[in-house]
Amino acid sequence: MRKHIVAGNWKMNLTFTEADELLDDLMSELEKVELPRDTQVIVCPPFPYLEMASDYANDSYFMVGAQNVSDQEKGAYTGEVSAAMLESCEIDYCIVGHSERRAYYGETDALVAAKVNQLLAHGLKPIVCVGEVLEEREAGRQLDVVKKQVEGGLFHLSAEQMQQVIIAYEPVWAIGTGKTATPDQAQEIHAHIRSLLAAKYGQAVADEVSILYGGSCKPSNAKELFAKPDIDGGLIGGASLKAEDFMGIVQSF
Ligand code: PGA
Repeated sequence: MRKHIVAGNWKMNLTFTEADELLDDLMSELEKVELPRDTQVIVCPPFPYLEMASDYANDSYFMVGAQNVSDQEKGAYTGEVSAAMLESCEIDYCIVGHSERRAYYGETDALVAAKVNQLLAHGLKPIVCVGEVLEEREAGRQLDVVKKQVEGGLFHLSAEQMQQVIIAYEPVWAIGTGKTATPDQAQEIHAHIRSLLAAKYGQAVADEVSILYGGSCKPSNAKELFAKPDIDGGLIGGASLKAEDFMGIVQSF
C-alpha cells in the first residue's frame, strides 16, 4: 500500500548555519519518536545543503530531496543541476513543477514531463506539483486545470514509472497565504487525481501513488487533512522551517 509522506520544502531560505541548526533540531526530535513503518519523512533543502542533510539523515531518519532539476542530461547549461549529479550524490527525491517555478520561471507541463523523465532515468522519485490559481477556482475550473497538469506532466509514463511518482496537490491560493483548502476541498481534488490515474493505469496503480496536500499545512490542520481517504500526507513550506512545527505535522497521521 502507498506510503504516508511528509516532505519539507525549505524553498530559498536559511543560511548554512541556520540549515545546520534546523537539521540538528529535526534529528533530535526524530530520534525521540517512533514513526509508523509506512511513514516517510523527506527534507528538501536548497542545493548547497543537500550533502549536509544527507549526512544527518544517514539513510534512516529521513530521506533527502532536491527542489529542482535540469530537463537536460548534461553539458553547457550554466547554473543547472542534472539528475545524474543528484543521483551521484545519493539524493532520492526531487520536487518538480512547483507553482513558484511555473509562475516565476515559466515551467510548462512539457518541461515538467522532461524533468520527470530525467529523474526517473536516474532512479530518483519525482514529487510533481499541480494546483489551480485563485481565478481558476473562482471560475470553477480547478478539476480541469489539475487534469491538464497531471496529463501533460505524467501521462507519457508507463505504469511501472508512474508507481515511482509522488503527486502533490497544492492550490496556489493556499501556498504561503495562511489560507488552507478545507479537508473536503482537498479530498475532492485528491480523489479526482486518483480517478484520473485509475482510468489511465488501472486502480491498482492508482492506489499505489501517494498524493500529498500542500498549502499552509500546519500542525493545527494536518490531522484533519490527513484523515481524508485520498490525502496521503503533505508538502510543507513555511512550517518545515521549524523542527517543532514540522514534527507536529509528521505526527498527524
Ligand atoms: P506553504 O508552502 O506550506 O508555505 O504554504 C507549501 C509549498 O509551496 O510547497
